[in-house]
Amino acid sequence: MKQYNLCFLGFGKVGRALARLLTAKAEDLREAYGIEYRITGVASRTIGWQAKADGFDLATLGTNNSLKTGSTSQGISEWLKESKADVVFETTSLNPDSGQPAIDYLRAVLQSGAHAITANKGVLVYGFQELDQLARAGGKQFLFESAVLDSAPVFSLFRETLPAVKLRSFSGIFSSTTNIIIETMEAGRTFAEGLKTAQELGVTETDPSHDIDGWDATVKVCALANVLMNVPLKPAEVARSGIRELNPNQLQRARAEGKPFKLVARASRQQDGKISAIVRPEQIGPLEPLGNVRGTSLAIHFELDMMPGLTVTSHRPNLQSTAYGLLADFINAVRE
Ligand SMILES: NC(=O)c1ccc[n+]([C@@H]2O[C@H](COP(=O)([O-])OP(=O)(O)OC[C@H]3O[C@@H](n4cnc5c(N)ncnc54)[C@H](OP(=O)(O)O)[C@@H]3O)[C@@H](O)[C@H]2O)c1
Repeated sequence: MKQYNLCFLGFGKVGRALARLLTAKAEDLREAYGIEYRITGVASRTIGWQAKADGFDLATLGTNNSLKTGSTSQGISEWLKESKADVVFETTSLNPDSGQPAIDYLRAVLQSGAHAITANKGVLVYGFQELDQLARAGGKQFLFESAVLDSAPVFSLFRETLPAVKLRSFSGIFSSTTNIIIETMEAGRTFAEGLKTAQELGVTETDPSHDIDGWDATVKVCALANVLMNVPLKPAEVARSGIRELNPNQLQRARAEGKPFKLVARASRQQDGKISAIVRPEQIGPLEPLGNVRGTSLAIHFELDMMPGLTVTSHRPNLQSTAYGLLADFINAVRE
């Protein structure tokens, strides 16, 4: 049995869902994988850098009283030392312009000798190559399965099960928030009501304009191109339009025709090796690979040199699914 010190950097919807999931799965981790853990660090801008080397009480984690039982570090280096971190879960908010400060945080985590696990796609756009090399050089893991399709296997699918394939292109529906807003307007209700529903489900980015204006999908396209196609695509190179210009009549007509609008992301490798990428609302017919994606469901369709089409659909993922992606990364990082 090995005991790991786990730390949360960012403790919002996803971080808290992971804390609940760790409690629910504690027995499975112990029995099936010989893994025991305690939570020795929790940090965010409002919480500060809280550390407790003998472990916070998981049942009350997040309450002020529970966090007061630890000590407050001055910054990330001291926090990593005081919490004796073995694994850090980074779930701070998306920064689509630079991926910061999450990249600096994850660099410090890997340099301290801990495994780094993130749900933050911005990091993959601006810091993937550096953090991946740093992790390899230190014999640690840098994993990020929840960053693109919640817990659905996308990165591990390529890493573990598809050796020697070349990815030619992909298309995807990556934003539950835009699906829900569009479907709410198709049903005759308002944009604002759709956004409220998505926020209540916990699937919206900290800043909802990141979903509505297509930034979330754009950053995901770049993350996938970086990791799976080895091309450092940046958001400025993606032709991007969001869903603000869609009006209810247009949406209702498209739905009645059987070809509803979705915010679709596409990327394909050109003859010269560069990637051409676009994010925009498109009408999608029922027989197309992305044709049955509704509500909070998400999907990605790959075209590979070895397979004409391979589609992964995540049917109605929720916060627990996202948390599961982080938990799976943790198990995969530490198992022998
Ligand atoms: N929600 C989802 O369904 C979902 C799915 C997949 C991936 N993700 C990704 O997971 C991450 C977290 O999402 P969430 O829904 O949990 O967001 P959230 O509820 O807004 O939580 C974000 C957390 O990060 C902290 N934070 C923000 N900026 C920080 C900084 N500069 N330094 C330290 N802490 C900081 C916030 O606390 P303070 O304000 O106190 O700093 C908060 O604890 C995002 O990168 C998102 O893209 C989310």
